[in-house]
Amino acid sequence: MSQPETIPVKPEIAANALVDRARYGDMARRAAENPEAFWAEESKRITWMTPPTRIKNVTFTGNVSIKWFEDGVLNASANCLDRHLATRGDQVAIIWEGDDPGEQKHVTYRELHAEVCRMANVLKSLGVRKGDRVTVYMPMIVEAAVAILACARIGAVHSVVFGGFSPDSLANRIQDCDSSVLITADEGRRGGRKVPLKANVDAAAKSCPMLKKVVVVKATGGQVDMQDGRDVWYHEAAATMPLDCPPEPMNAEDPLFILYTSGSTGKPKGVLHTTGGYMVWASFTHQYVFDYHDGEVYWCTADVGWVTGHTYIVYGPLANGATTLMFEGIPNYPDTSRFWQVVDKHKVNIFYTAPTAIRALMRDGEGPVKKTSRASLRVLGSVGEPINPEAWLWYYRVVGDQRCPIVDTWWQTETGGILISALPGAIDQKPGSATLPLPGVKPVLVDGDGNVLEGATEGNLCLADSWPGQMRTVYGDHERFIQTYFSTFRGFYFSGDGARRDEDGYYWITGRVDDVINVSGHRMGTAEVESALVAHAKVAEAAVVGFPHDIKGQGIYAYVTLVAGEEPTEELRKELVMWVRKEIGPIAAPDAIQWAPGLPKTRSGKIMRRILRKIAANETDSLGDTSTLADPAVVDDLVRNRMA
Ligand code: WT7
Repeated sequence: MSQPETIPVKPEIAANALVDRARYGDMARRAAENPEAFWAEESKRITWMTPPTRIKNVTFTGNVSIKWFEDGVLNASANCLDRHLATRGDQVAIIWEGDDPGEQKHVTYRELHAEVCRMANVLKSLGVRKGDRVTVYMPMIVEAAVAILACARIGAVHSVVFGGFSPDSLANRIQDCDSSVLITADEGRRGGRKVPLKANVDAAAKSCPMLKKVVVVKATGGQVDMQDGRDVWYHEAAATMPLDCPPEPMNAEDPLFILYTSGSTGKPKGVLHTTGGYMVWASFTHQYVFDYHDGEVYWCTADVGWVTGHTYIVYGPLANGATTLMFEGIPNYPDTSRFWQVVDKHKVNIFYTAPTAIRALMRDGEGPVKKTSRASLRVLGSVGEPINPEAWLWYYRVVGDQRCPIVDTWWQTETGGILISALPGAIDQKPGSATLPLPGVKPVLVDGDGNVLEGATEGNLCLADSWPGQMRTVYGDHERFIQTYFSTFRGFYFSGDGARRDEDGYYWITGRVDDVINVSGHRMGTAEVESALVAHAKVAEAAVVGFPHDIKGQGIYAYVTLVAGEEPTEELRKELVMWVRKEIGPIAAPDAIQWAPGLPKTRSGKIMRRILRKIAANETDSLGDTSTLADPAVVDDLVRNRMA
């Protein structure tokens, strides 16, 4: 393989960077030699009601127990709001840019504090207490951040459900964490279209007897049904609420939030994050990875429904007193220049998005980018999936005018925040590589038998030790937590990703090694899509795999066996795609459905996905050994009838 291009740290960036090469080396060494001392020092970035004296208490074996700062007491919302009031009360905390380019809002720290207190008091008036789970199903409006922080303020555990999920997916998540209160809006807006959030909640509520109160924010003014005794308009309830609400003292290990994420088997898991370690990690990584300087405008384009929105729109930036931009819209509305117009309009300095967006915008060429200035941009970030070198270089040359370093940040819902990434002033970049671990992060590559591999090599990406932002358990199912993450390779946290490490120690993430697919930076369990498909009356069996997709990174390819007597028509194909959209949400809609009279199975009945992946990827000349199949002839049929 030819030596990939290296883009060295720019001297002008390094000169003003919070972390330069020397400091990175020093931090990494101190964190490795004495993690307790290093994290005790870093914990001071957080304002504690009682500072922690016990720093780290972790075991990755047996019953797996992860505790950081365990005798510390704090409140996450106070760290994002109250502590900034004296010094930056009038600074803008959130710039909100509407779906409609004519709409924007600027909310100061003082205003945000007041609104969070009001919402917290509304929740209290509805009976929400410390430890209760509150579901948040919101569009990208300021009140989404307010809802999150209001929960944190009173010690309620928020479970944000992405607004693109279906009523069924929402219902499953409400049920799993037994949530009695939900915060939503009448409708959301995206790309000029309306999303019927409240109507979805009404549909979900039918199977959620535990749901007692629904707080509805008026966002679009669209017509909604309000159910007496259950539904409350936020503006009406808030009108009489005091603008002060003391933050609840929380133990560092008290839960802060649950966020559901897909795995290789079963229903989505409720990833549980606690308060102290998560806040330290959110603040630490946001500050250093983006080299955030006071006064800068920072924009992460994610939705608050994903972990990226939690850590890098809300908690990290606000903990650091940053100005964070929240965007309601999409990259191509009204046109494909929108991102860069927003950058110019609000003088954005740091911009963080996903490779799928970059690839989609690349198709339109340089024009829509080059007609904007983007002179304010200083640092660019990427997250969610491997960024191919071609997209990386386009981002670097066209968007950043070769002036802005790119930080390709590898992490997961489970990790709470970034683990592997370049630092703008410290680490030379290689297009396509997430580069090196942050201080205190210990990645290891292991082979299939759990042997740790040294040097330049490729293997399963694990973490050999804990970091403060790590998830603590699967909500309500600690056994599943142990099984999923700690049983494959003893003593290590297993990420589910594969990676290559080059001769400079740089990590190149190669993608999931399990039955999880990454569609446009969003995680989808193949088992979930399969169970949605087989729930359709005409489907007997389904097998779902990922396949390379130009824009989405991976697309969803479904092999479907119909029940006897059903005709495989074009109409039924469309119906099944719509069915999955309705069952799970638009992100789960298959890109291709191939009719499969039979599926390749071993004699013991196990579906050989390796073969299905090869056929979907059109790599049919390297199918490998098919002799162990119960009926090798099914493969010939599948190859012949592959979807173009
Ligand atoms: C999976 C986690 C991290 C927040 C958004 C997604 C993939 C994430 C990168 C990257 C290569 C990446 C991994 C990971 N991934 N970032 N920079 N390079 N792959 O969070 O839904 O929990 O998904 O996304 O496969 O395991 P998530």
